[in-house]
Amino acid sequence: MLQNFKLYSQYYDLLYQDKDYALETDYIDQLIKQYKPQSKNVIELGSGTGKHANLFSQKGYHIYGIERSAEMVNIANQNKRENIEFQVADISTFEVDKQFDIALSLFHVISYLNRNQDLIHTFQNVHRHLKQGGLFIFDVWHSAAVHALVPEKRTKQLSNEKISVIRNAKPIIYPEQNVVEVNYDIEVTDIESGTRTVFSEKHPMRHFSKPEIELLAFATQFEILHSEEFLTQAAPSVDTWGVCYIFKKI
Ligand SMILES: C[S@@+](CC[C@H](N)C(=O)[O-])C[C@H]1O[C@@H](n2cnc3c(N)ncnc32)[C@H](O)[C@@H]1O
Repeated sequence: MLQNFKLYSQYYDLLYQDKDYALETDYIDQLIKQYKPQSKNVIELGSGTGKHANLFSQKGYHIYGIERSAEMVNIANQNKRENIEFQVADISTFEVDKQFDIALSLFHVISYLNRNQDLIHTFQNVHRHLKQGGLFIFDVWHSAAVHALVPEKRTKQLSNEKISVIRNAKPIIYPEQNVVEVNYDIEVTDIESGTRTVFSEKHPMRHFSKPEIELLAFATQFEILHSEEFLTQAAPSVDTWGVCYIFKKI
């Protein structure tokens, strides 16, 4: 099994410190209020280090997070607010003895499901864990933009008072599989001692066209209520990297 988010988890919050989790949580909260007001119980797939969960808890939601990486859950548990629980499990096979108003999966978690089998099982599993009329809100890489913009090599450098992290991302495109394998080479330097740690991780990301998502919805008994660019709410286009879909259980 792919061991990503193991060492990466230790630097995850630093690498994404510029990501506006509060704005994203407000955005999703607005969607929930628009499409299923009075929702309270949320299952979050790929809950990571629990940043969204904490912000949703502050808004009065109860969050049950499912996350495959025990290291990410460990970090999430250290900062956990009230009405939040995390389970280390795979989103395609988890079981919780409860049904929820809302399922969320944020920051391209669904794009980590490269195989049709895992996708179908995940969407069926979400369906089972939602109440009738419950929503599944998720964002994925958008094929039209991947073809038009073409992923390139990128470098990101961040530091705090203790460490400095350089992350080189090298994408390998698999056009026949709708997958871009993002290869991260990460170098961490301890600022005080100067000690360097180097490691690599592969993050194979699948991208989706709207017709593929429509087929997935049909096959797993969801209705698509809406799709739009994540956060900006623009209509998806060749410039839209992340599309947010709102599914309703039928
Ligand atoms: C890019 S991170 C997003 C984390 C979090 N949602 C956020 O916004 O910061 C993707 C997360 O999905 C998790 N993940 C990927 N595939 C998974 C699977 N099949 N089951 C459970 N978690 C998964 C990874 O371990 C990782 O924590």
